[in-house]
Formats: sequence, structure tokens, C-alpha cells
Amino acid sequence: MAPEESAGTERLLWSFERRFLAARALRSFPWQSLEEKLRNSSDSKLLLGILQKPSGDSVTLSESTAIVSHGTTGLVTWDAALYLAEWAIENPAAFTDRTVLELGSGAGLTGLAICKTCRPRAYIFSDCHSRVLEQLRGNVLLNGLSLEPDITANSESPRVTVAHLDWDVATVSQLSAFHPDVVIAADVLYCPEIILSLVGVLRRLSACRRDQRAPDVYVAFTVRNPDTCRLFTTELGRAGIRWEAVPPHGRQLFPYEEHSEMAILQLML
Ligand SMILES: C[S@@+](CC[C@H](N)C(=O)[O-])C[C@H]1O[C@@H](n2cnc3c(N)ncnc32)[C@H](O)[C@@H]1O
Repeated sequence: MAPEESAGTERLLWSFERRFLAARALRSFPWQSLEEKLRNSSDSKLLLGILQKPSGDSVTLSESTAIVSHGTTGLVTWDAALYLAEWAIENPAAFTDRTVLELGSGAGLTGLAICKTCRPRAYIFSDCHSRVLEQLRGNVLLNGLSLEPDITANSESPRVTVAHLDWDVATVSQLSAFHPDVVIAADVLYCPEIILSLVGVLRRLSACRRDQRAPDVYVAFTVRNPDTCRLFTTELGRAGIRWEAVPPHGRQLFPYEEHSEMAILQLML
């Protein structure tokens, strides 16, 4: 194989691996050129190269291609969901054998990655939008997980629930019934109203103690507007919730915008 052809094949493999592992839409992948190369290659090296790439466990998602559809932002995966999933994959102990409540789960990528790699005891996906909840249930089943109550649930898998949970109306007793050890949320700081709702529900979650302990909380977001981030930390301060920034993790696994600034805050309720 000529050197430039070999470099082209390398690029093709890299691009395939990256999009395949990222569980992203493959529309832009050059299928035709790959098919031609596979047809014309005299041996099976190219095919082997693809098949032998490390793939680990995968997450399959059905999601919208529009960032806002049916009046919600929750039908598509946002970058902070990918960033939080990466952090979880590098820090599984934060979730292992624990009950995780996710706020504003959207399409479900972060939770599915955690269910598949971190061995939580139970995982509660939640959202307030009926269409998002419908898509979430579909995505949980698409990934071979059973939804509670399902007596066929495999005891090796976490107990998975998809719950309707609106931060503006959820009461302390409703939140306590989830018995969360860990609460997570990704990309839920995009406007002042949502920040006030989120801090409100976090304040009520601080009353949900298990063995005298409030849940650990991790909130991931893309820093789009410093004023919005400042409003979040100011409101946390007013609610008496301390926070610290989680150090950035090492490896980027997913193809989100590399230059956008991403952050995870750990909150002490
Ligand atoms: C930008 S999306 C993020 C979805 C997902 N976490 C991600 O990062 O891909 C925000 C999500 O928060 C949900 N949400 C907004 N306000 C909410 C509220 N008051 N109660 C519950 N969920 C809410 C939306 O329905 C939507 O699914």
C-alpha cells in the first residue's frame, strides 16, 4: 500500500473508531469509501484493523438531531453529559453500590454509561418532560437494562427507574423516597429560571439524609456565559450549599467541542 493511501486508511479507521465509540450519529461517516476500500483490498488487514479496535461496552441511544424539539432541550445529548460520563468512567467508585438520582436526564447518555461501567446499586433517571421520559424509557430498554418493576431484572444489573420529577414541585418526602446516595445533573444551567429551580430542589435534597448523610452531588456544565455560572454559585451560597470544582479528568473519550470550557462542581449539601 502506498504511504499516502496507508495514511488515508489510518485516518479512516481513526474516524470510524472515534464516531463508533462515541455512540454518535454516523451520518457523516464515509461509508461508500470504506465499502470500496474493503471490496478492493487484497487481504483482510483493513477489516481486521477495524474489528480489533478496543470497543469496551457501548451505549446505544435514540435521540433527536435538533437541539430543541417538542419544546424541550432534553431529546438530544449535550456536551456536559459526555463530559460527566467520562468523569464517571474514570471515577467509578463514586457510584459503585450506591443509589444514584439523576436530575434532568435528557436522552440518558450519562446514566447509561454509569449503569454499564460503574455498577451502581440503583439508578433513577428523571426528567419533567413527557416526551423526554418516553425517549428515556426506550433508551434504557435499548441498552438491555430492565425497568423497575420488572421481575425478570438481572440481579447483576442495577435497579433502574425512570421517574417524572419536576424540580419546582418535588417535595422533600418525594425526594427522600428515592433514597439517593449520589445526585448528578448535566447541562442544566442554561438560564436564570432553571438555576433557581435547580438550587431549590438541591436545597430540599439536603434534607434527604441517609444514615445521617446528605447525598453527594455533582453538577456538570459547559461554561457558555460566566454570568450564568456566577448566578449558580451565588445562589448556592444563599442556600448555604458549599461547593468545590472537581479537577479536570485525563482522557477525552467522546467527540464534544474540544475548545469549549467544561466544569464539574461537587456540592456539599
Ligand atoms: C439541556 S437538557 C440536558 C439533558 C441531559 N442532562 C444532557 O446533558 O444531555 C436539560 C434537561 O433538564 C430538564 N429540565 C429542565 N427543567 C426541569 C425541571 N424544572 N424539572 C426537571 N427537569 C427539568 C429538561 O427537560 C431537559 O431534559
